[in-house]
Amino acid sequence: MEAGRGQQSSADDCCHNQRYHDNYRPATPGLHPPDADRRPARPPAPARPTGNIRAGDDVPDAGGNNRSMTTAHPSAQAAPSPPHSAPHAQVFDRRADALLAQLDSGGLYKHLQMIGSPMDAVIKLRQRDGSFRDTLCFCSNNYLGLANHPEVVEAGVRGLREFGAGTASVRFICGTFSPHETLEASIARYMGTQASYTFVSAWTAAEALFPTLCEPGDIIISDELNHACIIDAIRLATVVKKGVHKAVYRNNVLAGEKSLEEALQKARANPDVTGQVWVVTDGVFSMEGSIADLPTMRGLCDRYGAMLVVDDSHGHGVMGKLGRGTHEHFGMIDSLDSPPVAGETVRQPAPDERAAQGRVDLFTGTLGKALGGGAGGFVAGSNRAIELLIQRGRPTLFSNALPITVACSADKAIEITLREPQRVQRLKDNVAYARTKLKDAGFEVLASPTAICPIIVHDTAKAIAMSKRLLELGVFVIGFGYPVVPEGHARLRCQISAAHTHQHVDALVDALKKL
Ligand SMILES: Cc1ncc(COP(=O)(O)O)c(C=O)c1O
Repeated sequence: MEAGRGQQSSADDCCHNQRYHDNYRPATPGLHPPDADRRPARPPAPARPTGNIRAGDDVPDAGGNNRSMTTAHPSAQAAPSPPHSAPHAQVFDRRADALLAQLDSGGLYKHLQMIGSPMDAVIKLRQRDGSFRDTLCFCSNNYLGLANHPEVVEAGVRGLREFGAGTASVRFICGTFSPHETLEASIARYMGTQASYTFVSAWTAAEALFPTLCEPGDIIISDELNHACIIDAIRLATVVKKGVHKAVYRNNVLAGEKSLEEALQKARANPDVTGQVWVVTDGVFSMEGSIADLPTMRGLCDRYGAMLVVDDSHGHGVMGKLGRGTHEHFGMIDSLDSPPVAGETVRQPAPDERAAQGRVDLFTGTLGKALGGGAGGFVAGSNRAIELLIQRGRPTLFSNALPITVACSADKAIEITLREPQRVQRLKDNVAYARTKLKDAGFEVLASPTAICPIIVHDTAKAIAMSKRLLELGVFVIGFGYPVVPEGHARLRCQISAAHTHQHVDALVDALKKL
């Protein structure tokens, strides 16, 4: 395999989105990657072999050199591209080949690692010869180790047995399984909001929220390092509702030049901004492992009459004593009335109860990380916001519900999270232990309470080479480089889990020391 290609991340959960903030150039020059869309296409790749490509086969790269395909995509094995395009597809085929060749020659081609076991601290990764090797996993968002928890798995299996695969329709047409209602009440309680509504992913939740709740004359003000789903949801909102405005502020900069406060001032002075002001941030920034200063943001939002929306996908299960999120970390949440017990009926807040006084107004979140790790997302907030999403949200009206297995597993994962605060504490201990050990070993680690522990190595090629060598040593850590992170800020992103032991962390540090 060519250096690191199998390990450079698809940046599934990273910010990698500055260029999607239209008309915005961030402060850090390297943050603005060359706009590949506008770059002239390179010549098409040399012809690929026409036979099936299998793991281990050598295939020519864009420069004509042979490189080994360690993990050929299954589709490549099943249906290799025909050597000549059909006439009707020539434009697309040429364009696609050029783009793929460009990704390949730029070292950005992604090969998926194949896992032959449940997600855990140790997973089985497929090798070139097709065998599976035990590998320490430090790149999953399985923060609480619940992805393969027996109760979580059993809840999903039970849901499947009891309800079948699904309703085969959207919820408003065909109804909702009762576990969806239960899950949504659990999420609302967990997040400390009046209500919640689930979607097939946090991505979809974001795409439901902004285009549905925003109206012409509104403005959405967004942190420059917000997740790609927020960026795309904002773009969608401005297209669906012409006259929705947007603005971007520097990551976590709340006062001064290009800050949130400056954006709020400009919005106030803008005669076209006649409606609601929205401020949106990630709770935990996925590339940095840093956190948004929610109390200060709340203060600014109050001063400028803005609603605060937080995507806390990396905060669930991690932040706060009970792992309820970044708002719990900052004390911006009511404590739970009593410890939850299995199967309890969740209290429904009175309709007139204020959901968000002095708090976060709306959350988006994922069920695909700490809270079960399967898939799914949600919006949590006031009854009226959730009601509007149910009535008017296009993903709610035109797309099926979260699969029942995931709904049941996620509900169980939330129950375990709240029932076992020691699990959250174990994660915190592991995070503190890992940061200390990494620092003691001489690595540059960003200080933070989150489970995202980037080791800055500056140079992209170095990060990729280190990631590759770690994999050879039996440790799976992703290397991120430009353009996912700014030039000169390449990093290995270690993600810590409650499933890790100190021995696992020691093994990570030992492997890093060998690089
Ligand atoms: C901050 C953040 N928000 C949203 C998402 C999307 O989550 P989902 O996989 O549920 O769509 C991710 C996923 O990587 C994320 O990191």
